[in-house]
Amino acid sequence: MKVSAIVYTSNTGFTAQYATLLSHQTGLPLHQLKECTLPQGTQVLYLGWLCAGKVQGLKKAAARYQVEAVCAVGMAPECDPAKLVGDNHCNGLPLFYLRGGYSPARVRGKYKMMMTMMKAILSKKTDPQSREALEAMERGADWVSVPQLEPVLNWLRG
Ligand SMILES: Cc1cc2nc3c(=O)[nH]c(=O)nc-3n(C[C@H](O)[C@H](O)[C@H](O)COP(=O)(O)O)c2cc1C
Repeated sequence: MKVSAIVYTSNTGFTAQYATLLSHQTGLPLHQLKECTLPQGTQVLYLGWLCAGKVQGLKKAAARYQVEAVCAVGMAPECDPAKLVGDNHCNGLPLFYLRGGYSPARVRGKYKMMMTMMKAILSKKTDPQSREALEAMERGADWVSVPQLEPVLNWLRG
C-alpha cells in the first residue's frame, strides 16, 4: 500500500461515502481532516469535495501530511484533468476525479448563496449539460458508485 491512511473533507457527505468505501476496501484507517491527529508527514491519500474548482482542505492537508494522491469529488459528469491539476497546484501527484452528488437540503450558508447564483446563471442556458446540472441542483442527485473507485484502488495497490 502506498499510503498509511485516508484523510478527507466532506461538506454534505458524498466525499465521506467515497472515503469510507476506500477504507473498507483497503483496511486503511480513515480520518476527517478537521479532527485528524496523525503525526506530521504521514503518507496519506487525500479526498476533498470540489468548490469552484478547488479541492477543499487540500492546502491544509498538504501542509501537515505527505499527500501522495488526491481524489476530487464533484458533481460534474467529468472533469478536465489538466485544469484540475492547475487549479489545485498538485502537479506530479496522481489526481482522480470522482462524481459525488448534490444534496440541496444539506448545502448551507455561503455555499448555498454561491449555488443560488450558479442556478441563476444556469437557468438562462439551454444546452443539455446546463439543464442536467440545474435539475441536479434543484432536486438533488447521487452518483456515488463503487466502480468509480477502480483507478484509485489500482493506484493504491500498485
Ligand atoms: C458552492 C459549491 C461549489 C461547487 N463547485 C463545484 C465545482 O467547481 N465542480 C464540481 O464538479 N462540483 C462542484 N460542486 C458540487 C460538489 O462538489 C458536490 O456536491 C460534491 O459531491 C460535494 O461533496 P460532499 O458531499 O463531500 O461535500 C459545488 C458545490 C457547492 C455547494
